[in-house]
Amino acid sequence: MGGVILDRQSRINTADLRARLKGASLEEGEFPTDQIPEFIDLMQVYEGAMYEISTKLEILDSEFQVRFSHDPIHHMERRLKSVNSILGKLVRRGLPLSVEAMKDNLFDVAGIRVICNYRDDVYSVSNYLSAQNDISVLRVKDYIKNPKQNGYRSLHVIYAVPVFLSSGAHYTPVEVQFRTIAMDYWASLEHALRYKTDLPDAKISEHSQTLLDCARSLQNIETQMQNIHRDINGAPQVGEAPKAG
Ligand code: GTP
Ligand code: MG
Repeated sequence: MGGVILDRQSRINTADLRARLKGASLEEGEFPTDQIPEFIDLMQVYEGAMYEISTKLEILDSEFQVRFSHDPIHHMERRLKSVNSILGKLVRRGLPLSVEAMKDNLFDVAGIRVICNYRDDVYSVSNYLSAQNDISVLRVKDYIKNPKQNGYRSLHVIYAVPVFLSSGAHYTPVEVQFRTIAMDYWASLEHALRYKTDLPDAKISEHSQTLLDCARSLQNIETQMQNIHRDINGAPQVGEAPKAG
């Protein structure tokens, strides 16, 4: 099997985007009405970029399946950032509400999460994707090698991919988060805790401490299982994160 892609929202809906842009009333102002058509056009390009990258990942997964009888990718999730999150992020960063500010500063409008079976798969899939010469690597953050303080682990890579429209090639960023099943399991619970604000502070910090312990335990389990898997599987190993540039 393999190649399961979960779309976290349906395709671009022009009427819905327009309504959300018009309806967004922020303290900092409104999204300029005359830029709405340009915003919608840009979202279509982000959607194309997201499809381009996820197709590349599916092709790599199927090559591994055929050549090594091993599925590196357990499943993928993809989403376009919502209008509210886009505008909210521009405001948080003190940027103007404009298409230009979004284009120049937000690199996670198109997002793909690649959930792999093992850590080796995270590095091999990300490196094979990064080596493709029609795309480029804009930024790498390896939170697997250097986990965050709270225990968060994942490899984040921002790619620029050409999307071909009637007007030519548009180089568009896509944020890809590569992680293992165990890292994803952990991140989902940590995310839920973070947005669960009706718990007393003492409870939240107790749970955060437990989550940090869980992150360490999961990392140990993963290492042990990875070693067993290496001995029974012949797929190539690439132990380093891709390099930007
Ligand atoms: P923002 O996108 O504004 O957060 O800044 P950034 O692009 O510098 O962030 P980074 O690449 O570190 O992380 C971006 C995404 O990774 C977030 O939107 C989350 O999806 C995920 N992420 C990062 N840190 C954590 C974390 O501590 N816990 C969980 N659950 N997810 C995280
Ligand atoms: Mg980000």
